[in-house]
Amino acid sequence: MTKSNVSAAALIAAGFAVAIPATAQADELVLYCSVQEEWCRAMSEAFQRETGIDVLMTRRSSGETYAQIAAESEQPRGDVWWGGTGDPHLQAAQEGLTAEYSSPMLGELQDWAQRQAETSGNRTVGIYAGGLGFGYNSDLVTDNPPSCWADLLDERFADDVQVANPNSSGTSYTMLATMVQLMGEDEAFEYLANLHNNISQYTQSGSAPIRAAATGETAIGIVFMHDAVAQTVQGAPIVAVAPCEGTGYEVGSMSIIEGGPNPDAARAFYDWALTPEAQEIGATANSFQIPSNVNAATPEEAPRLEDIELIDYDFALYGSSEERTRLLERWDADIGSLPQ
Ligand code: F6P
Repeated sequence: MTKSNVSAAALIAAGFAVAIPATAQADELVLYCSVQEEWCRAMSEAFQRETGIDVLMTRRSSGETYAQIAAESEQPRGDVWWGGTGDPHLQAAQEGLTAEYSSPMLGELQDWAQRQAETSGNRTVGIYAGGLGFGYNSDLVTDNPPSCWADLLDERFADDVQVANPNSSGTSYTMLATMVQLMGEDEAFEYLANLHNNISQYTQSGSAPIRAAATGETAIGIVFMHDAVAQTVQGAPIVAVAPCEGTGYEVGSMSIIEGGPNPDAARAFYDWALTPEAQEIGATANSFQIPSNVNAATPEEAPRLEDIELIDYDFALYGSSEERTRLLERWDADIGSLPQ
């Protein structure tokens, strides 16, 4: 029996619908992963265990992974891009960097996850969702804690707020697009310029600010609420906040890389990653997003979208190549260039 046959048999035995042709050499998968390292490792190990397919995993932030896939487009080296915010996945889809694939699992997914597939012509799909917000260290902020975006401009937080750079981080791009949708574009850039006075550091990874808040290096981190909750669950004095003005959210996504070296293994991973069993691995790896498979258990700790005042985030627009490129250029010009 070839290794690819073993893999297919193992998946079928585990109840997964996979289609690996008997002749395929699906014994390796190059996975680009854009969630927390711990979850990336848990997913890679579980898939490897289930199928016998070796997973070579690299973890990078969403914007960085998009840039890597674009840079490798002449000779693609990755097979699947799993995780990370949906906007750069949509941009990759529009630019033909990712492949069309309709998983048999699509029908089991939440509407917001299926919409991501529809918007992209089936070049990406939603795997989880989570609301944007911020978290503060309650040992450092004892009086009058911030509850709104506007509160983050308070001068008592000078040099005490961190957020990532939206070029590398999908979290931070979600914040940028959220502010534009909440306030209007010029007002959003004015807000970000004012916020700059309180920013001590623009980090590379989206969740780094809340890890810094957990250790007391900064008072406030602007992050997805589930990343703030992950720190609280681990015992840090972090309080997660859903901003009072309303906020945006992400549809964490997955795409198959066009022309990748192992297309059969890529489709096997894709189908498997949409199963309830695979999606429930998140909670075991300190990740508290809402899973996209309706049959997957939502972790008890996960901030519920229905409890958050959400804007009607326009993924098609803010995930488009033109708009994402334009907003990032404006951020570089108007915010990234400001003196620290
Ligand atoms: O895994 C945590 C997480 O916040 C995901 O929910 C999100 O898709 C990803 O990280 C974004 O990371 P970054 O901002 O570094 O691109």
